Amino acid sequence: MPVTHAARGESNPLLVSGEGQTYLVGDEVYLRPFAPADAEFSQSWRFSRFPMSPDRVRGKLDEGKAGDSSGKNRVHLLIVRKGDDRPVGSVLIHTSWFPSYYVEAATDPIFGEAGDRWRGEAAVMVMQLVVDEWQRPIVQFAPLADETATIARLEKIGARECMRFREMYSRNGKRVDGLMYEYLNGDWMERLGDPAERELPRSGTGQPRPVTAPVALKDDPPANAVRVGPWVYLRPIQEDDAVHAAHWSMRESDANWGNGRGVVSGRAWWHEMEKLQKESPQEWVRFAVCLRDNDEAIGFVGIDDIDYTHRFGESESELVNPSYRGNGYGSEAKHLLFDYAFNTLGLHALQSWVLFENTRSAAALRKQGYREAGRSHWDIPRDGAFTNVVTFDLLGEEWRAMPRRVDTESS
Ligand SMILES: CC(C)(COP(=O)(O)OP(=O)(O)OC[C@H]1O[C@@H](n2cnc3c(N)ncnc32)[C@H](O)[C@@H]1OP(=O)(O)O)[C@@H](O)C(=O)NCCC(=O)NCCS
Repeated sequence: MPVTHAARGESNPLLVSGEGQTYLVGDEVYLRPFAPADAEFSQSWRFSRFPMSPDRVRGKLDEGKAGDSSGKNRVHLLIVRKGDDRPVGSVLIHTSWFPSYYVEAATDPIFGEAGDRWRGEAAVMVMQLVVDEWQRPIVQFAPLADETATIARLEKIGARECMRFREMYSRNGKRVDGLMYEYLNGDWMERLGDPAERELPRSGTGQPRPVTAPVALKDDPPANAVRVGPWVYLRPIQEDDAVHAAHWSMRESDANWGNGRGVVSGRAWWHEMEKLQKESPQEWVRFAVCLRDNDEAIGFVGIDDIDYTHRFGESESELVNPSYRGNGYGSEAKHLLFDYAFNTLGLHALQSWVLFENTRSAAALRKQGYREAGRSHWDIPRDGAFTNVVTFDLLGEEWRAMPRRVDTESS
């Protein structure tokens, strides 16, 4: 259906036409900011998988809560078909992460292959805007492995694959790998060298070890325990855990596992955790890791950014008291978490992202069965340049096939 005069009439016509536009104009589509009339076509450009009436979307557009391109660490643009000015999708440029920008693009699946083509064209236009015109060092975009037309476009401008998460998406009943492409600025590359050539530092054996969890208990489990292993158990995070989180944040001895040390305020931390628990379903599920010996909470593990449609998430872990690290507690807690992720949530795969300098965390992931999935280059500032992140993935079926240590306890 072409854009009607009625719909156009609700916006100033100057805002819903690409006539005379000097940039972000491709062969088949052009990109522009949003206007109120775009609410009529919101099912084509909203990123959500769930429906919403045009009136509600119009309200959000009016309030600047949708389609807003000013501030808020993101630029949201409409993908419009040339010729008839029909909105067919949208692109989001995430600008909050320094120095790496990230682009998302979606077109209405109702347009089939043409929609995939427009998505690729739009993504490439904004990647070139970010890197060639705005001079940002790097921009990333994540196509699916079966989007061959998009991949061909990306490779034509010199973008390259830097990560491959196996079987990440479910498309028409089949699992498809999720890729990440990076497009680097040539001037930055000349100054800093090609980040892909930097060798990944390593520690540990690199060998997966038998799964240790959970144990078959003869006695009652600890109160509120969700999974119990030989040495540690997982339970929901509770308010008094905030004291440990805040206490140990100021006693952290290792500045390498994040982008420097992060100060934790107990109250703010607990409010964040409480907020996660109020959601349903929870997109970030976290547990406290407690010693079975004395119930001390020694750290936290969780699954973040859970996608319940495609059934993947990102695992995270921290033993807050540094003296417990390197003794296998973290890996035992992770195996309890995997049991929860794959057997309770029914996830298909997990990912993990680790700073190059955090060799202990990478060694622990290899020990837990994770495989390397690639690298996110120039991810954060370090030493007057930018350092990289190494990424991993683990499929549920791989974890199930790992050898198991069966621990049965006598009372
Ligand atoms: C990451 C973490 C949860 C892992 O738990 P853990 O109990 O320490 O892990 P494990 O003891 O099971 O395994 C550690 C591996 O690193 C190696 N290692 C131990 N100490 C190390 C050190 N100081 N430097 C480098 N490698 C080290 C070990 O040899 C082992 O590998 P291997 O068994 O193959 O030889 C824990 O170390 C931690 O909380 N670190 C700080 C927070 C963090 O980095 N979180 C992850 C962010 S991505």
